[in-house]
Amino acid sequence: MALVTSTEMFKKAYEGGYAIGAFNVNNMEIVQGITEAAGELKAPLILQVSAGARKYANHTYLMKLVEAAIIENPDIPICLHLDHGADFDICKSCIDGGFTSVMIDGSSHSFEDNIALSRKVVEYAHDHGVVVEGELGTLAGVEDEVKVSAEDSSYTRPEEVQEFVERTGVDSLAIAIGTSHGAFKFKPGTKPQLRFDILEEVEKRLPGFPIVLHGASSVSQDYVKIIQENGGNLADAIGIPEDMLRKAASMAVCKINIDSDLRLAMTAGVRQVLTADPAKFDPREYLKVGRQYVKDVVAHKIKDVLGCEGKA
Ligand code: G3H
Ligand code: 13P
Ligand code: ZN
Repeated sequence: MALVTSTEMFKKAYEGGYAIGAFNVNNMEIVQGITEAAGELKAPLILQVSAGARKYANHTYLMKLVEAAIIENPDIPICLHLDHGADFDICKSCIDGGFTSVMIDGSSHSFEDNIALSRKVVEYAHDHGVVVEGELGTLAGVEDEVKVSAEDSSYTRPEEVQEFVERTGVDSLAIAIGTSHGAFKFKPGTKPQLRFDILEEVEKRLPGFPIVLHGASSVSQDYVKIIQENGGNLADAIGIPEDMLRKAASMAVCKINIDSDLRLAMTAGVRQVLTADPAKFDPREYLKVGRQYVKDVVAHKIKDVLGCEGKA
C-alpha cells in the first residue's frame, strides 16, 4: 500500500468513536518499533516528522525509512505528516517531497495572520492531493527549542473555530484544552485536568469535523522509574491520564499526538542495558531494547487508549 492521506482514517475514526495515533519518528529504531506494533495489530497509522527530526535525520533518510516500513507492513494504511510546520516553505518542501499531510502551526500569530498563512498552505497542499492540519490556541511546553510557558499558553476559543475552518479550508484542527508538550505537563500534587467543555463546544460548532490533540503523552511511570533507577533525572514527570485520552477519542478527537512517551521508552531501554553492563558498546544491543520498549508503548496505546486495533 502506498502512503495515504488521513481523510479516510479520520472519517472512520470519527464515526467509530476512536482515534488514530500520530507518532513522531526520528530514526530507524523508532520507525520500526511503531510500525511493527501497528502492523501486528492492524491499526491505521500516522507517522509524523518535525522540523527538528528533518534537521537530525535528513528528509531523504526519513522518507526511505517510511517507504521501507510500508513495504514491511503492506496491510495497514500509513499517512506521513509534517508536525508543527512553522511557515509555508517547510510545508511546501514536505508536500513536494512526498508527505501526504502537513500541519501549518500558525497558533503564535494573530487570528487574521494565522488564517492567511493557513489558507496559503491549504491552496498549495490541496492542489497536490495533500491534507492540512491547522491550529487554534497555544499549548504550553517545548517544541523545536521554542518554549511556551504555562502563563503564555491559551485555550482555544470555541467561537473562533467555525470561521477559521471555513476561511482556511483546513482538513483538521488542533485545539488547546490543557494538554502540553514534553514530560512535565502538570505540577506535582495538582490534579490533571482537561477542558472537555471546550472540546464539546468545538464539536457542536464543527459537527463531524476531525479534531487533533497535541501534547498527549501519558508519561508512563514504569518507564520514568526505570530511567530514575538507571542514572536518569526525571523527577516529577507527569502526563495526561489515559482515561482522559480515551474520553477525547470517543468524542471529536480523531488524531492523538505522541512523542514524549516514545522518547521515554527508548531512553529507559538504553539506560537499562548500559547500566546493567557498562562494558557493552555495541549499539545494536541497547537500541534493540529501546526499540522493543517503543513497540510495547505503541501496542498499548493502540489497544488500550486509542481504540484503533483492527481498524486498518
Ligand atoms: O511537538 C513537538 C514534538 O514532540 C516534536 O519535538 O520538535 O523536538 O522534534 P521536536
Ligand atoms: P508529547 O510531548 O505529549 O508527546 O506531544 C507530542 C506532540 O504533540 C507532537 O506534535
Ligand atoms: Zn505538538
